[in-house]
Amino acid sequence: MAGPIVARTRAELVAARGASSVSFVPTMGALHDGHVQLLKHARPLGETLVASIFVNPTQFAPGEDYDDYPRTFDTDLERCAEAGVDVVFAPTVPVMYPSGLVDTVTVDPGPLGAILEGASRPTHFRGVLTVVAKLFGLVRPDVAVFGEKDFQQLTLIRQMARELALGVDVVGCPTVREADGLAMSSRNRYLSADERATAAAISAALRAGVAAAAGGPDAVLAAAHAVIDPADVDLDYLVLTDPELGPAVPGADARLLVAARVGRPRLLDNIGLTLGRPS
Ligand code: PAF
Repeated sequence: MAGPIVARTRAELVAARGASSVSFVPTMGALHDGHVQLLKHARPLGETLVASIFVNPTQFAPGEDYDDYPRTFDTDLERCAEAGVDVVFAPTVPVMYPSGLVDTVTVDPGPLGAILEGASRPTHFRGVLTVVAKLFGLVRPDVAVFGEKDFQQLTLIRQMARELALGVDVVGCPTVREADGLAMSSRNRYLSADERATAAAISAALRAGVAAAAGGPDAVLAAAHAVIDPADVDLDYLVLTDPELGPAVPGADARLLVAARVGRPRLLDNIGLTLGRPS
């Protein structure tokens, strides 16, 4: 099987991209089955499928895991080949940040970037949106596919593409889960065997919330909280919102989102549900 073209520089990317329609999956590498689903979803959406592999320093705060973030380029390339990727864009930091990590123009995520993940990681979404805007400018995709697992990220990227008229159709792809329900994430490899078993409570809480949806918002939150033992799971938030991350509305579609630390990694998950009206 012929592997993808690997483009390391902007000029190599331009040459490899050609003039065809492009579907695009941005990643930070350490590809797992969740990424493979994104690639498979994106494959038929454009003539050329581009994946990027770039661990973006500006979305990590000092003290976070930028240096330790798993880098598995050779196996990533194999997974890309299996999923039918045509071009892997794997730039260095200077290719993405030619002036150094000191860009004076960055993307302000606005109020939605300050809640939930943004409350704990205040510089995170500015870094994410800025690098995604740069990647869009370089790759010039027609369609870009992101996982629903990072639901706030997906919502913000959609908002950025719409409000800044970037001309990219942003598509969400359902979360891929392990057999016990744990959402797949590159950071799951930081979990010990015991922590891995404990972490299953996070998705179990979401399922309990869905099962209680007919009872309305309070019933959902009570059912989800009942599954989480605070002695094992360090809960950051467990919240119910509308599908745009605004206040949840009884009788309408909603999103239940959770962030928690089990051992070292911060784990995120979320699920869609339709709320009943409390009687
Ligand atoms: O979700 C990710 O892997 C990253 O946040 C992204 C979108 C590739 C930007 O660096």
